[in-house]
Amino acid sequence: MFIDTHCHILLDNYDEISSMIEKIKESGVERIIVNGCDLQSNIKVLDLIKRYDIVYGAIGFHPTELQNFCESHLNWLEENINNEKIVAIGEIGLDYHYDDTDVDKQKEVFRRQLGIASKYNKPIIVHTRNAIQDTYDILKNYSLKGSIHCFSGSYEMAINFIKLGFLLGFGGVCTYKNAKNVKNVIKNIDLKYILLETDSPYLTPEPYRMKQNTSAYLQLIAREIANIKGVSVDAVARVTTNNARICFFDLK
Ligand code: NI
Repeated sequence: MFIDTHCHILLDNYDEISSMIEKIKESGVERIIVNGCDLQSNIKVLDLIKRYDIVYGAIGFHPTELQNFCESHLNWLEENINNEKIVAIGEIGLDYHYDDTDVDKQKEVFRRQLGIASKYNKPIIVHTRNAIQDTYDILKNYSLKGSIHCFSGSYEMAINFIKLGFLLGFGGVCTYKNAKNVKNVIKNIDLKYILLETDSPYLTPEPYRMKQNTSAYLQLIAREIANIKGVSVDAVARVTTNNARICFFDLK
């Protein structure tokens, strides 16, 4: 069985969520964590977790989605953080990709959410793009656990995050031929630090790269990681699912 530790099925990208959830179950996925990124999507996450048994949620405010962010959103986050199917604060982090990036605002909102994660002892799901050093420099001041989602940093940076207590999320990118760095990191770190994710509907794995992504493709990612590491798909499933259970669900 697999756990998709990071996806966004809430984004109206799916015509029929119910039938999709059935297909995801049939593919051997036991749980998926749907991530919000602004108030609107976070509210949808709360709705989805009520409707579907395999759907769990992460709520949080994403660094590139802060245009309408206001102080009251953090109150909303605190009010909903103890929902029993909300397993993490996410997707949160830093993203300096765009020219109009307000670095100070991103850092401030990130830190505030890390404060809430600390207060309620919640794992976090971290987005970092073109900002990995700053992300690390902030996270090292906290004692938190969770996932560095869609990890694409160096091996050295992977080790730094692992030493802080984080796991690294890998998805469709590892199936792309030109993703040499990601494959190298996967090869050189222990399976016990790896989480599977799809980030669907984005980043569809090969050979379906032109199609819409779904958690049902998690097995393709597991197969690629098994190939890279020279282990069985069963081993990848068993260890990474156990990692996710411990990290997000307090299960073993
Ligand atoms: Ni995402």
